Amino acid sequence: MRYVTLVQLFDHPITQKFVKRSGMAHAVACAYHAFRLAKVHHVDPDMATKAAFLHDIGHYTWYRDGQWDYQLYKEYDIHAIKGAERAHKLLIRLGEHPRIAKEIALAILLHTDSYLPEGELELKPLQYVVALADEADEEPGGEHHYRTISDERARHLLGELDKKVEGDI
Ligand SMILES: [Fe+2]
Repeated sequence: MRYVTLVQLFDHPITQKFVKRSGMAHAVACAYHAFRLAKVHHVDPDMATKAAFLHDIGHYTWYRDGQWDYQLYKEYDIHAIKGAERAHKLLIRLGEHPRIAKEIALAILLHTDSYLPEGELELKPLQYVVALADEADEEPGGEHHYRTISDERARHLLGELDKKVEGDI
């Protein structure tokens, strides 16, 4: 059984504020990629889609004098750390099982290694699927963060994905 759906996550004000900041269209696309990739890598589609949908929830806006400062972002960004915590809090609040909330938080924490010291990380299949889903929707220059989608369409697509996930478990 599923404790929390993608539509429930979408409807929450925390998601509306922070996932919109990093790009709702990207988040929805990643959730779809994660569903497909979960099958390939034998990963639970419920966790994979939710982790992919929320993976960028930790982004902060790096503005200096009203302009996005990519240098500041590159040097000081910790969006995966912040996102893991933010997603965990949101999931628990909505009634997610703590085991699932923890797995999702870890997958978000490790979806990028851009903030980590050099080294090799060995990812678990769920974490790998979320990283792949993100890459699958990436556009050069971070353009994927700026693609837009209407609320109506995003909610509809997530509802459809909820049905797919439910049909699978
Ligand atoms: Fe992303």
